[in-house]
Amino acid sequence: MSQNAAVSAGDPLWYKDAVIYQLHIKSFFDGNDDGIGDFRGLIQKLDYLENLGVTTLWLLPFYPSPLRDDGYDIADYYNVHPDYGTMRDFRRFLQEAHKRNLRVVTELVINHTSDQHAWFQRARRAKAGSPERDYYVWSDTPDKYQEARIIFQDFEGSNWSWDPVANAYFWHRFYSHQPDLNFDNPRVHEEIIRMLDFWMGMGVDGLRLDAIPYLYEREGTNCENLPETHAFLKKLRAHVDAHYPGRMFLAEANQWPEDAVAYFGDGDECHTAFHFPVMPRLYMALRMEDRFPIIDILDQTPPIPDPCQWLMFLRNHDELTLEMVTDEERDYMRRVYAEDPRARINLGIRRRLAPLLENNRKKLELMNTLLFSLPGSPVIYYGDEIGMGDNYYLGDRDGVRTPMQWSLDRNAGFSYANPQKLYLPVIIDPEYHYEVLNVENQQKNVSSLLWWTRQAIATRKRYKAFGRGSMKFVAGDNAQVLAFVREHEDERILVVVNLSKYTQMALLDLADYAGSTPVELYSQNRLLEVKESSYVVTLSPYAYYWLALERETHEDDGTTDEGMYELEVQGEWSSVLTESHEFAAQALPAYLRTARWFGDKRRSIQHASIADTLPVEGGGETAYLLVIEVSYREGASDTVLLPVAYAGADKAQRLLDESPRSAIARL
Ligand code: NOJ
Ligand code: CA
Repeated sequence: MSQNAAVSAGDPLWYKDAVIYQLHIKSFFDGNDDGIGDFRGLIQKLDYLENLGVTTLWLLPFYPSPLRDDGYDIADYYNVHPDYGTMRDFRRFLQEAHKRNLRVVTELVINHTSDQHAWFQRARRAKAGSPERDYYVWSDTPDKYQEARIIFQDFEGSNWSWDPVANAYFWHRFYSHQPDLNFDNPRVHEEIIRMLDFWMGMGVDGLRLDAIPYLYEREGTNCENLPETHAFLKKLRAHVDAHYPGRMFLAEANQWPEDAVAYFGDGDECHTAFHFPVMPRLYMALRMEDRFPIIDILDQTPPIPDPCQWLMFLRNHDELTLEMVTDEERDYMRRVYAEDPRARINLGIRRRLAPLLENNRKKLELMNTLLFSLPGSPVIYYGDEIGMGDNYYLGDRDGVRTPMQWSLDRNAGFSYANPQKLYLPVIIDPEYHYEVLNVENQQKNVSSLLWWTRQAIATRKRYKAFGRGSMKFVAGDNAQVLAFVREHEDERILVVVNLSKYTQMALLDLADYAGSTPVELYSQNRLLEVKESSYVVTLSPYAYYWLALERETHEDDGTTDEGMYELEVQGEWSSVLTESHEFAAQALPAYLRTARWFGDKRRSIQHASIADTLPVEGGGETAYLLVIEVSYREGASDTVLLPVAYAGADKAQRLLDESPRSAIARL
């Protein structure tokens, strides 16, 4: 395994280095031609996801459900919705994902069920006060808990609905067909532990805890973040620690930073939580061309326990929520990002990333760079890696849940079904039409957003500082330029972004790093050494830099001491030449970049592949002449001939002593 492997098999803190990809089974790929994506289809696309470089898949709810809240209205916690496949399919998917080193996060929706769930059907018929009835929260009047806000305010007028069978009102924080479970009933706790055991027992790596702030209700409060809710989470976590070490809880708590950090507890509640407030501020900062909103919200974010991690995101399956901003900020966001009232829903904006950013490639790269650089692990929403469009003429939040665009074939290559059968229509907006905007096209074009995203992910994965490093803002004279340093052990990465549509210059105070040399991560190009005095950077519109601040430099050849690759080999050493993707994709380019004889170091290597392997016999040992195709981010590609041979430990040491850059990898 290389020193840069994203997730080492047994690391319990794996989520700190994770790059998470969020997807809906129904939207990804249809394996049985019925117009709805399914597990069989998803399995066929796992190679695509592995190749993209993501390390973790987060699946939206796939359980039996009337689908009136797209599966967040669960009717059976122990099965798979028949549209998506069977439990057997799910198990096979899990196995196939794990085979590719992809971890799987699923949903634990425990605040509420569907009104079609057997528990609710039983409860409404059970005697008032009986344990069965008490699975849910009932009242004779709709007056209790008046301080609780209404979340789906475009659809619901109250958190209480009348049930004519029970002859009582039931409590619901979301749709009226989603009654809230009653956490004052110990039987509800038992049910939840049981379903946790079911999914974690099967090998699921993490659970997203949906709507977690709303578990309990208490009069005189807003019924969010109550101490009882935290006590229950600690109990759930203790159970996981005892039975499933190394698994992860993810809190979906759309709250201000101080309330959100409470879901980490003292490191004894959730391992990760979404950073909701930072998300809209990234869009604000970009539009205002001012770093203040980002700095301000991160300054307001309290430190978190060591083993915990924020999850950063730009978009997801819901509306771009504007709950965690002030009224003025919300007005501003709606004015600049959702002029058309149809693009708005509840308190937010139902648009995808690319349309929000006017399909501006520079803005897309900049926002993704922030996503990949801010403290935490990034979550990518399916389709955003190719810049998919949306359709807000569809109902609810469906406009951002349309079929993944694979190719220009029928139904965007997503399904062979009759187009009228698709669960949702594909995007045909002329600007984002699937005939042009699809994976196949972007795969073929190394300048596409897909290739850019892949490269950004691979680069991020080479540096632990992104997932684990500390965060320090760098003072600078220009408010349109945001700069900060992420530092972990001997890695220090300076991130500089220009939020403005014009070229900018900034004087950065990098005195703490005087003597270091900034090395641009993609190109490995070296910039001027940092001095005590202000460091000058100039940035083109929406430009971004990832710069490693290197303390020491090699005397003459511009190499950096990145260390050597370690690769695992089964059997013959030469199998790395033919079978190890990592040897060609990572070890070779890293070696070439530093090899003294290697051509133009100013050009950055995009990709190296072994075109041919020619055995050369001599002295009883087999050596090989590799024919390597090297492509660059710009300009024509090269063919390079490189002889390689195997050296045992002693000989290797001797060679290294004589010529420190003579080795490519340690086997
Ligand atoms: C949060 C989910 O993200 C959203 O899609 C859903 O509607 C609500 N929880 C209610 O379950
Ligand atoms: Ca299907």
